[in-house]
Amino acid sequence: MKDASPQTIYLSDYTPPTYLVDQVHLTFRLHPEKTRVISRIEFRPNPASQSREFFLHGEDLRLISARIDGQEVSPDMVQGGLRCDVPDAPFVWEAEVEIAPAQNTALEGLYMSSGMYCTQCEAEGFRKITYYPDLPDVMATFTVRIEGETPVMLSNGNPGATRASFAEWHDPWPKPAYLFALVAGDLVSHPGAFTTQSGRQVELNIWVRPGDEGKCAFAMEALKKSMTWDEQVYGREYDLDVFNIVAVDDFNMGAMENKGLNIFNSSCVLASPETSTDANFERIEAIIAHEYFHNWTGNRITCRDWFQLCLKEGLTVYRDAQFTADMRSAPVKRISDVIALRARQFREDNGPLAHPLRPESFVEINNFYTATVYEKGAEVIGMLKRLVGDAAYAKALDLYFDRHDGQACTIEDWLAVFEEVTGRDLGQFKRWYSQAGTPRLRVSDDYHDGTYTLHFEQDTPPTPGQPDKAPQVLPIAVGLLGPNGDEVRATTVLEMTEAKQSFTFDGLAARPIPSILRDFSAPVILERDTDNAERAFLLAHDTDPFNKWEAGRALAREGLIAMILDGAAPDAAYLDAVQAMARDDSLDPAFRALALGLPSQDDLAQTLHDRGHTPDPQAIWEALETLRQARAQHCQDLAVRLYAQYQVDAPYRPDAEQSGARALANAALALITRTDGGAQAQRQYDAATNMTQQLAALSCLLQAGKGDAATAQFYDQWRDDRLVIDKWFMMQIINADPEEAATVAKRLTQHPDFGMKNPNRFRATLGALAANPAGFHHASGAGYRLLADWLIWLDPVNPQTTARMCSAFETWKRYDDQRQTMIAQELDRILATPDLSRDTTEMVSRIRG
Ligand code: PHE
Ligand code: ZN
Repeated sequence: MKDASPQTIYLSDYTPPTYLVDQVHLTFRLHPEKTRVISRIEFRPNPASQSREFFLHGEDLRLISARIDGQEVSPDMVQGGLRCDVPDAPFVWEAEVEIAPAQNTALEGLYMSSGMYCTQCEAEGFRKITYYPDLPDVMATFTVRIEGETPVMLSNGNPGATRASFAEWHDPWPKPAYLFALVAGDLVSHPGAFTTQSGRQVELNIWVRPGDEGKCAFAMEALKKSMTWDEQVYGREYDLDVFNIVAVDDFNMGAMENKGLNIFNSSCVLASPETSTDANFERIEAIIAHEYFHNWTGNRITCRDWFQLCLKEGLTVYRDAQFTADMRSAPVKRISDVIALRARQFREDNGPLAHPLRPESFVEINNFYTATVYEKGAEVIGMLKRLVGDAAYAKALDLYFDRHDGQACTIEDWLAVFEEVTGRDLGQFKRWYSQAGTPRLRVSDDYHDGTYTLHFEQDTPPTPGQPDKAPQVLPIAVGLLGPNGDEVRATTVLEMTEAKQSFTFDGLAARPIPSILRDFSAPVILERDTDNAERAFLLAHDTDPFNKWEAGRALAREGLIAMILDGAAPDAAYLDAVQAMARDDSLDPAFRALALGLPSQDDLAQTLHDRGHTPDPQAIWEALETLRQARAQHCQDLAVRLYAQYQVDAPYRPDAEQSGARALANAALALITRTDGGAQAQRQYDAATNMTQQLAALSCLLQAGKGDAATAQFYDQWRDDRLVIDKWFMMQIINADPEEAATVAKRLTQHPDFGMKNPNRFRATLGALAANPAGFHHASGAGYRLLADWLIWLDPVNPQTTARMCSAFETWKRYDDQRQTMIAQELDRILATPDLSRDTTEMVSRIRG
């Protein structure tokens, strides 16, 4: 049943829960069509609340019976739950409900995936399991009994009695319902063990479907590394006797940090060299770490309400990024994160879906698990750390864990520990949480008599609901280079707080070349009138790896913009500079592979839009093709040399060193393919012994229009491996010529292996179309129509995944009138669909504006 009129929830309406819960007992009698859930919940009045109204959330539940202190009651069934008269004193609520996991395709609550039972409760899925105050500030201990026929039955916490027909679990740590989890099925474990720093023996398991046992070793090692790292860097120890991870095929997101029982999208945990790329391995390591780190930042200390989501997500993303930087290469991680931030978060922050880190209202909270909350949330933590310094950051975190353990907290609680430790007023810094939009930072400079001055101006464009913005605190890391390329001033952090502010450097022998916003010290768009000579100089000499990369990126971008707007030829300065960079064997191969990347089509479209032009997706694509071709010719000999030099002969390891070498060799292969027509790529494809090599070769062949044989072979080889077949769907669409992309995507949606019930497959197909911008925005409108058709079909099946994918349309106002008209028609068609979900209605309405 759909809500008649979706309600908007406001942060300003927050009130504490009227009743608190001490203990919860749940019994599950598992059945695909009629699972019984029997709850016994100990409530007591919350002294912090005036109201004695009693409301329990509940959705899609069949209430069989309800009792208060043993007496049968008949609650008022209302929209989204029930109300009941209850004592103004502690009481016991007992209820029995029936649910149908096999019918649950939305993948929220208790559902079935490949024959196994599993749950997803964040954010508001628990209310589809039983009646409960399903809010994050209601924390309780849970005891769970699962009755069923399946060999493995898991829940949170530590195991209790277990027989063939039932299993009991007890979680001693109070938690909100969104961290509840249950899994039952025919699963096998890849076991492990860990001893914590204080000597607790922890049993580790990764549970998978039989047949997948061989793909767990990497994730297990990642888990142990994460546990060690959190002890060493944050002093945080694990707190239960077991830690279980389960892989499920049907999952809306990447993974979920349920207490002691993390549930993962199988794509984010299963790995083998033959089936996973280096990038997959790195992502798995990061997500395992992320979910594990939530045990402290999210679970032991949780969020008071969903508006505070970035309290746990921003911090945990920041922590997992630190972990990856420590395990691998810090500069490579930073550059990759900034590429992703610009691609997803800047795009969001500069369009109709822009929202503050802490939104003021929402209709469907699932729509706020965004790049802003996660990635910008992490950037803000990074800025805070840069402003207060490493030592104060460590102290503030210790205080945070000490003071708030077991609590449901707010951004205010978080900032207060920093204020106390440093004595700083973070009032202005807090604007990062309330103002949406990406600040523009304009810089100019002058030099007289040994004194160099940088003049900064900041300004944040309007975003929905926020026409005017106040200046924010910007930590601007700056270094200065002398004309000979030597660094004459090491990195210092300038703290900008005003709309306009200047900073001077004295005692300089000559006008320096500035390296501004080193390590991308603030998530802003830097605007500086400079020239290609300076960019090439920084690419050659900057000691800051991020800005070195950034200089090359800017050089490429300006050349491309000139090609698009003025029909210029590829820029010789760029070609020479990039060749010199790629040839420099003293540089990390992974860095060089990144520096051989080009700005994305979407980046270029946004830049053109920012500069007052209407981007033409086809022209952008053509300019990139022309530049790639020119670069391949320019670097022909170098490409052959790099390709040979960076072949890895040692047995496959997914570590930073080997994956960096493979990344550079594969970047060279892409260059070679443009001059040899695909011969080398075909040889690599035929000889590949790992997925990184196989997929890179397939991608080159597809781009060269020579992919038919390899595509057919790939399918035959991998038809039984779902995760690899996802790649097969995606590759064909992402690499399709823009003229063909919608046709290829449409044909693939008719393939027998396409099914919309599996979110991974849906994303691999329709998400890939959106990731081929020239194809998606083809002037025919075929891409728009195909995506809208599928969103309309998917919505009743899985609203959450549908709503997320609507963001493919979020950039529509950048484009020309014809495209805008076509997109508006599709958005209106979606909105006019009867019974459209609350999730999709909210997203499409916000995008439509
Ligand atoms: N909390 C999860 C994470 O950050 C993400 C998630 C949200 C998963 C909602 C499922 C549903 O790791
Ligand atoms: Zn998270």
